[in-house]
Amino acid sequence: MSSFRQYADGLRPRIEQALTKVIPTTANSQLGEAMGYALAGGGKRIRPLLVFASYEALKGHTESAALDSVACAIEAIHAYSLIHDDLPAMDDDDLRRGKPTCHIAYDEALAILAGDALQTLAFELLAHETSISAPVRISLIKSLSTAAGSQGMVLGQAIDLAAVANTLNLQQLEHMHRCKTGALVNASVTMGAQVAEADTQTLKALHTFSTAVGLAFQVQDDILDVTADTKTLGKTQGADAAKNKPTYVSLLGLDAARQHAHRLLDEALTAISPLPGNTAPLQSIAQYVVERER
Ligand code: IPE
Ligand code: IPE
Ligand code: MG
Ligand code: MG
Ligand code: MG
Repeated sequence: MSSFRQYADGLRPRIEQALTKVIPTTANSQLGEAMGYALAGGGKRIRPLLVFASYEALKGHTESAALDSVACAIEAIHAYSLIHDDLPAMDDDDLRRGKPTCHIAYDEALAILAGDALQTLAFELLAHETSISAPVRISLIKSLSTAAGSQGMVLGQAIDLAAVANTLNLQQLEHMHRCKTGALVNASVTMGAQVAEADTQTLKALHTFSTAVGLAFQVQDDILDVTADTKTLGKTQGADAAKNKPTYVSLLGLDAARQHAHRLLDEALTAISPLPGNTAPLQSIAQYVVERER
């Protein structure tokens, strides 16, 4: 945990600074404000950290300025997904990162639009990052669009909403988690590696790593919904049970869910052991994902 903290504390100022710069100043002031509100501090920034750590696992450093745009793009998609996830038509939550959710702080229409605009902003950032070669930029856009859309995060959210009050079996639950959370975690790691111009074999190892970490991330999210408190979480504890959501805990119970998260961690760590650069940051993030308390 302490190695994660050290790594994250080292990069967070860079991430936060990059994020403050990406909202276009030409955005209508209310719209720009709502976008900035959703993108502002308080998030763990796991996806940006994974972009940097993945690049570092191949190159041994994080000196490429292009990584900032990639990190902001993935965090913009994540922030949009959270705004929409919290809407009354979805999870109907009023607390996020210890603050009122975007539709409470503003209104529903503006929250929907801020989400829409953050989504397109992500692709704008990638398309305009001319320090990355055009073919790599296209690969990045392919990775992020596939992960975010109807084969990835949005599909997972649709399965999640359709599953309320229904019993999913373990295989169906895993598929839902792999889509709604795993896909963007996969994309974060893949995109860091794409900036490093990784070969196919390396991308495959990183895919195995990030698939396990992505699933473990949502398993731990399900666990924390039961075990943490609202203040630490920054979101309402017990929201899944209150809405009758199928989760790893509701299906397997707490102990088995925890064991499952640790099995996934082992799987993730094994996958990246052969990589050439510095894999310690990826290892520490994976560890943090299953040990985190918020
Ligand atoms: C919450 O994501 C939603 C899930 C995909 C489980 P995070 O736990 O990464 O949220 P922040 O960005 O740190 O607030
Ligand atoms: C959210 O899953 C996944 C996405 C936002 C894509 P949850 O609904 O479990 O996330 P929280 O618990 O509200 O953060
Ligand atoms: Mg949800
Ligand atoms: Mg939710
Ligand atoms: Mg949750």
